[in-house]
Amino acid sequence: MFTLRPARETDRAALYRICLETGASGEDATHLYADPLILGHVYAGPYLTYAPEFAFVLEDQRSGEVMGYVLGTPDTAAFEATLERGWWPPLRDLYPDPAAVPRAARTPDERIAHLIHHPPRAPRDVLAEYPAHLHIDLLPGAQGGGRGRALMTTLLGALRVAGVRGLHLGVGESNVRAQGFYRHLGFQELRRAPGAVTFGLRL
Ligand code: ACO
Repeated sequence: MFTLRPARETDRAALYRICLETGASGEDATHLYADPLILGHVYAGPYLTYAPEFAFVLEDQRSGEVMGYVLGTPDTAAFEATLERGWWPPLRDLYPDPAAVPRAARTPDERIAHLIHHPPRAPRDVLAEYPAHLHIDLLPGAQGGGRGRALMTTLLGALRVAGVRGLHLGVGESNVRAQGFYRHLGFQELRRAPGAVTFGLRL
């Protein structure tokens, strides 16, 4: 049995761990990264810090372990600006910019460090209709039982209450399972770039 509840600051380490353990197109990425925190710094930590009212977790009632999360932000452009001011600067001191290393020669850690120094901005035409975005990850023991849908329903409800009219998300091109999940929930494919697919949903 799982409880779905708002995330709290004490969940931070669990969010980072789940992010890593689902970080290879939905599969465990632990073996790929020398630094076990670097993925969480990009895809989990800033949401708990700057948008905690749009962060929800699944807790295993027996063990008390956090088994999954959905993390969102209602206004991606404002979130990007906030991260530029407060989140990225200390991480840039921690992780050197690998810009001088040829792209093809970069390690997985260096690819994420490059994102920390040069975070991509969401396309403004996508944001015009789909200003919010999200990340969702469940550990294998929590997948496939309707809990991903439950987390999405909870986040979408919170975004609707906040007056948000649409949200988008990016998913790895090879993560076909998650793509099927999003299509099943009514998301439309907006664009496809090498390695990544962007989906959108009007609220
Ligand atoms: N194709 C079609 N339908 C699907 C698929 C699929 N691949 N996967 C699930 N569904 C359907 C289910 O049948 C179910 O249908 P129903 O509610 O109408 O009966 C519905 O979608 C909900 O399925 P859940 O059981 O809630 O899905 P789950 O709990 O497994 O959550 C998720 C899906 C989030 C992709 C989960 O498997 C997961 O975390 N995987 C690993 C991490 C991952 O890939 N995360 C996405 C990264 S991309 C990003 O965060 C933007």
